[in-house]
Amino acid sequence: MTIITTDFIIVGSGIAGLSAALALAPYGDVIIVTKGTVHQGSTEWAQGGIAAAMNSDDTPKHHYEDTIAAGDGLCNPSAVRILVEEGPIRVKELMELGARFDRDGDTFSFTQEAAHSRRRILHAGDATGREIEKTLGNTVRRKPNIRFLENTSVSKLLVEDNECQGCVILNNGTVNILVGRAVIIATGGCGQVFAYNTNPSVATGDGIALAYTAGATIQDMEFTQFHPTTLYTGDKRPISLFLISEAVRGEGGILRNIHGERFMPRYHPSAELAPRDAVARAVYDEMKITSSTHVFLDLGDIPFDLATRFPTIFKRCRESGIDLRHDFVPVAPAAHYFMGGISTDENGQTSIRRLYAAGEAASLGIHGANRLASNSLLDGLVFGHRAGITAAQETPKISWPHITHQPSPEPLSTNPKLLKSHIRDTMWHSVGIVRSQNLLDQAANFFDTLWPLMRCEAATETLLELQSLAIVGRLMVQFASTRTSSWGSHFRSDYPRKNPAHSGHLWINNSMDHPQLKTHFSTTLQTNTDFEL
Ligand code: SIN
Repeated sequence: MTIITTDFIIVGSGIAGLSAALALAPYGDVIIVTKGTVHQGSTEWAQGGIAAAMNSDDTPKHHYEDTIAAGDGLCNPSAVRILVEEGPIRVKELMELGARFDRDGDTFSFTQEAAHSRRRILHAGDATGREIEKTLGNTVRRKPNIRFLENTSVSKLLVEDNECQGCVILNNGTVNILVGRAVIIATGGCGQVFAYNTNPSVATGDGIALAYTAGATIQDMEFTQFHPTTLYTGDKRPISLFLISEAVRGEGGILRNIHGERFMPRYHPSAELAPRDAVARAVYDEMKITSSTHVFLDLGDIPFDLATRFPTIFKRCRESGIDLRHDFVPVAPAAHYFMGGISTDENGQTSIRRLYAAGEAASLGIHGANRLASNSLLDGLVFGHRAGITAAQETPKISWPHITHQPSPEPLSTNPKLLKSHIRDTMWHSVGIVRSQNLLDQAANFFDTLWPLMRCEAATETLLELQSLAIVGRLMVQFASTRTSSWGSHFRSDYPRKNPAHSGHLWINNSMDHPQLKTHFSTTLQTNTDFEL
């Protein structure tokens, strides 16, 4: 086993990880560990765009108010304020690095998405994430002191006396140790824990599971955002579903049930542009009422050339025999984004010293109980940068006196493929769009049979991913059971209303050494703040 020493270790290579790397580059050597290839994460897949108050009729205050409203009472106001104020600065820097967004002549072509009070979304066709990832990736590659370790997983965080020294890495069965001044987790979300999701196969919640196992505080695990419109291609559905961007509804797409009737006005005054959680639940209800596996998206009224405005969606639908110009698109909801994760402050600091987190793996209440569309890329950009700057400034160089790791992988007799699909099905059926105690108890019983897996030292990448899925799944069940009320994306059919006693965040920090899961409510949140510009 080799010990590799660097200054800063970043786990994950999406928008948050790459932004952190660029912020850290002036301060020392950086190693970015990524379990696939650099561009395999969720950033690359983001279609709709990046929200920033840069249009002439917009201000950070409007963006702040929309974000707070979508978050359904659980946003952290000061974090949202940072997001909307620093967002435009970071986006301009991104443009200076070469990112190109669509324009109408001299001005940017801002698009509309649900729950935004004005057109605010910068986009590069319908492949905005790819443009951003390419720009950041190219910039990072030009920095001589940043190095990628691809196809490498982190199997453990090395933590002594609540201070992170580095991590154990695994590459095709070979174990090594990375040590440094600070570790930043930017591993993205965990959509793969659900049978139906829009995330790439690598989105298995690894960073959250690692941090939890190491004893870090984890919060808001009950809040999974379900996207209302993924392409429905029949009952045999792939590991990741193709997203039909919310920008399609923003530009005038209409939802219809299988009888061709428009239904959203019956559910919400903002109809197709209601907050995403409300649209996802309406689609779910409408599918139930009509005993159908899907609803339809009708693009007939969109005043653009669809092949030009939505080239990726146009091409993918055509491959499935659907012509966007003439056909309704069959769509169904799927897990899309995760508001919970590793609890951090506004600088990415976790409850463990020298351990930081940013992007979808982190949680500081920016998105409350339901994220506003296109705020996730902005979150990664703003808070990845902040985590990098803070790690550089607050972690003096250190020479760790004794780094110890005795690998003791435990043999587990399990069929990974079968168990993975069991976890994913359980999560979809019991911890999906509509939850109840009965379903959550069934899921808890299932996950409790997986304690040996959750606590073992995984010696292979397959087992490690399975372990991550089991840990994040079990945490989600626990959090969803504790919040016996409905907020934003967390809807309980047995408690369909908000309980004011639950107007705070839920957190846990008892680590894998204590199988007794104990969640706690934080003190009541202040849900609004004066916003003077
Ligand atoms: C979409 O394009 O609909 C997804 C955008 C987002 O998740 O913010």
